[in-house]
Amino acid sequence: MSTNAARVPRHVAIIMDGNGRWAVARGKPRPEGHREGARAVREVVRGCRAAGVEYLTLYAFSLANWSRPKTEVDALMRLFVLFAKKEVEELREREISVGVIGRPEDLPATTRKALDELIRKTAGGKKMRLSLALSYSGREDLIGAVRQAAALVDRGKLRPEEIDGSWIRAHLSTGILPDPDLVIRTGGEYRLSDFLPFESVYAELHFSPLLWPDFTEKDLLAAFDTYGGRERRFGRTSEQVKKGQE
Ligand code: FPP
Repeated sequence: MSTNAARVPRHVAIIMDGNGRWAVARGKPRPEGHREGARAVREVVRGCRAAGVEYLTLYAFSLANWSRPKTEVDALMRLFVLFAKKEVEELREREISVGVIGRPEDLPATTRKALDELIRKTAGGKKMRLSLALSYSGREDLIGAVRQAAALVDRGKLRPEEIDGSWIRAHLSTGILPDPDLVIRTGGEYRLSDFLPFESVYAELHFSPLLWPDFTEKDLLAAFDTYGGRERRFGRTSEQVKKGQE
């Protein structure tokens, strides 16, 4: 599989769906699917780094996921701790820095501590930024930004006319990240499930029928190839894009 370097998306965001079904199909408990999902995470992180992706954002735990059975939530929280401890050396070697988007303050103290350490130890990584969306909700993120704006206006520190798209964008938990170029969802569902709604307005979408634990580097590169063949118009006409007009 060839990947055209000029066509590698700068920011890839992934909805990793299908872990539960992967486990159930094998008569295993759902957390087993998440463990296998962590293996796929490792492969995709390596694949993105090797292809030259600069930002990789993974939807690891949504705000809505708190309503899952406690045993599953606990298993995921432990898995994040394990991931933080096991992967730190390789992430450092590959010069990948880790960050969190969403509401890390909602996570149990042990998970938060392990992630804080991972963030601190990988902080110097300049080749790729891996962002984990944890207790993340795009709507809540947006509401948070609007509340900040309202509070500043209330204190006379911001004028309503200063609140525009770039102000809101900068005050989301993704504020330091560029907009995603490519959003991948595995698991055969065709929805975005509250993932990066403000940031993804011009993202190309790629839906894979594969369950997340079955998604490999080869599938990632195939998604990049499809992305490379798309014409991104950002509201312009095809003719304007071809002439390279801004
Ligand atoms: C959705 O599949 C997946 C999740 C809620 C968790 C994603 C977590 C991982 C891939 C684990 C490892 C991640 C990191 C960053 C170490 P689902 O359980 O909703 O699948 P289903 O639709 O088949 O039930």
